[in-house]
Amino acid sequence: QDSQLVDPFGRRITYLRLSVTDRCDFRCTYCMSEDMVFAPRAQILTLEELYAVADAFISLGVRRIRVTGGEPLVRKGLPSLLARLGAREELEDLAITTNGSQLHSMATTLREAGVRRLNISLDSLKPERFAEFTRRDKLDQVLEGIEAARQAGFKRIKINSVIQKGRNDDEVADLVAFAVARGLDISFIEEMPLGSVSSHQREITFCSSEEVRERIEQRYQLVRSNHATGGPSRYWQVAGSETQVGFISPHSNNFCGSCNRVRVTAEGKLVLCLGDEGALDLKSLIRRHPGDSERLRDALMTALQLKPEKHHFRTDEQVQVVRFMSMTGG
Ligand code: GTP
Ligand code: 5AD
Ligand code: SF4
Repeated sequence: QDSQLVDPFGRRITYLRLSVTDRCDFRCTYCMSEDMVFAPRAQILTLEELYAVADAFISLGVRRIRVTGGEPLVRKGLPSLLARLGAREELEDLAITTNGSQLHSMATTLREAGVRRLNISLDSLKPERFAEFTRRDKLDQVLEGIEAARQAGFKRIKINSVIQKGRNDDEVADLVAFAVARGLDISFIEEMPLGSVSSHQREITFCSSEEVRERIEQRYQLVRSNHATGGPSRYWQVAGSETQVGFISPHSNNFCGSCNRVRVTAEGKLVLCLGDEGALDLKSLIRRHPGDSERLRDALMTALQLKPEKHHFRTDEQVQVVRFMSMTGG
């Protein structure tokens, strides 16, 4: 690995999560409040600035980029940025995490721009519950989007489900069945305490990956697999199927020791850890010194020296990171 981005704990950064907008057409209860205020447009990086940031990371050794939001597909002009990134031969992976609401019309465009993998959020297969989670009654539109993505020929499609006790923990085996029937992967996520969302008490709704796995094993045989996506998911294969079931367990399994990633928010802030408030304002630097790629690279290398060793998420306190999940897209 030839990344020049090495932190004080010897971790090499090869993966960038690039948020292209903080806006979203959903208002998921674990991510935002209903009356979320979004950043004014002038504060959001332009497509040109986003590319400049990505380019600096690529030239320092980043080999995978995941485009996130908010909801990335509501960003105007996104396909042109993706096409530029998709043309970079250094990149081994270009992926998107989306809520799926725009995929019915955009899946093919994304595939043609060079996006290889898609992660699509889906917390429930029941319309009323889906509407409770997302505060939008759009399950059918998302299901249609998932179908469109399958038709478009992505290398891999993965469902992301945040599981909450008493809300959708009884659906985990059904969600696995949904994935198996369509040849998709699926990751189950323990909720993380970001932003003041205050719609539920996270302490009560917390559901560990261990419990989720036990529920799945009541219906399916899971075999520990060595499938890896470079992220925090640990995978098990559903016996007799193609489906990899991932578990993202920030509370029950600390994966920070092998962290390979940083994030850039839509406002151009470099976030060194999802569980940390610290951030470096790249936007000011870019706007003060447009085109000065060397200065940008130097700033990134210097900033990396501040990457924290690990997150300190807990399940028994309401909010530990003031920044909302939608600022970084996870
Ligand atoms: P791949 O492994 O590339 O498929 O993606 P991913 O699972 O890393 O990314 P995705 O955007 O699908 O995010 C799924 C969940 O993982 C979200 O809840 C993210 O917040 C969480 N996640 C991703 N990376 C990290 C990380 O470095 N730290 C923590 N704590 N959570 C992460
Ligand atoms: N905890 C865990 N995962 C979250 N996501 C959004 N908010 C949270 C949270 N508080 C997930 C979404 C999406 C991914 C980007 O992050 O469901 O799949
Ligand atoms: Fe939007 Fe994703 Fe946040 Fe839901 S989790 S509100 S889809 S950004």
